[in-house]
Amino acid sequence: MTDTAANPDANSAIKPATRPNANFTPRVFSGIQPSGGLTLGNYLGALKRFAEMQGEAYQTVYCMVDLHAITVWQNPADLRKNTRELCAGFIASGIDPEQSILINQSQVPEHAQLAWIFNCVARMGWMQRMTQFKDKAGKNTQNVSLGLFAYPALMAADILIYHATHVPVGEDQKQHLELTRDVAIKFNHDYGVDFFPITEPVIEGAATRVMSLRDGSKKMSKSDPSDMSRINLTDDADAIAQKIRKAKTDPDPLPETLDGLADRPEARNLVNIYAALADMTAEAVVAEYAGQQFGAFKPALADLAVARLSPISTEMARLMNDQAEIDRILSRGAERAREITAPILKKTYDIVGMVPPVV
Ligand code: AMP
Ligand code: TRP
Repeated sequence: MTDTAANPDANSAIKPATRPNANFTPRVFSGIQPSGGLTLGNYLGALKRFAEMQGEAYQTVYCMVDLHAITVWQNPADLRKNTRELCAGFIASGIDPEQSILINQSQVPEHAQLAWIFNCVARMGWMQRMTQFKDKAGKNTQNVSLGLFAYPALMAADILIYHATHVPVGEDQKQHLELTRDVAIKFNHDYGVDFFPITEPVIEGAATRVMSLRDGSKKMSKSDPSDMSRINLTDDADAIAQKIRKAKTDPDPLPETLDGLADRPEARNLVNIYAALADMTAEAVVAEYAGQQFGAFKPALADLAVARLSPISTEMARLMNDQAEIDRILSRGAERAREITAPILKKTYDIVGMVPPVV
């Protein structure tokens, strides 16, 4: 595709495309795994940002990556339920299925088809360096699925099958996006084309890495065995307030400036969460609460979190009562998505040298 780049508006997170992407229409893509439960980390690092990036100047495509989820075992009934629940979470977080294209990955077969090509572009050594694979496989490298190892090639395909130029994610996905760039560069180089864009990661905001409420050195995660370590988007007001009240902190008051939080990861995390929920900078939060104890800061944070998150959980519950509507949204999303992905796959096959069907 060599459409002329539309100029995104000045106050958006997307900077006008610089070379080498100047020939690509600005397009945003991101995905989340339907592996059960959404946390405050998913909301602040991803969903809230996805909603903010919707705009007139560029198209946004958001995906429930069900094919990624099965790289580790998923009970089929749970996978279906979690995919629909995630779709409800996207919409409740402000993603408008008319404005954005909202899909589940398996309904758009071109993702998996391009992933095969990328399996043949990406190198074993690149994959072996992926820290998410090393973390998830642990000592069990011989027994995890081949899909878990190849996971980043499918992620590169998710993005590049749309020629997406910008990908909003949390900090933990940075390495996968670097690999996506490497895949695009190698494909373009090997085939002597300028076909895939070199995607820009968009890792911005006050909470690109929300930490566990129990341990400031660990990421907040749906897989943490302790439910007190995270806020779930389905938690009610009492649970949210209680988890924040019990969050680990230290005995010192909040400092005058952010430098004073350098060695206080738990305190820093709560300040970041406050900032992201209030749409403030962390500096401004510290300036407002300087000298105050956590005894005063935590209730203010709890009130803010409840005010922001309760409408989301209420809306998710409402949407989950109308499964037929969710399924319709996903089918319609897939139809719109394939208008973009089918021509890009066709062109990719042509570049690679596959004989096309006779029409
Ligand atoms: P996952 O739940 O691993 O599929 O992640 C979906 C999205 O949420 C990705 O963009 C992640 O980077 C983001 N994310 C997950 N956990 C966190 C966290 N603790 N802080 C910030 N972003 C996160
Ligand atoms: N790997 C991402 C995660 O675990 C999910 C994902 C799959 C994704 N494909 C993507 C994110 C494409 C951004 C773009 O969070």
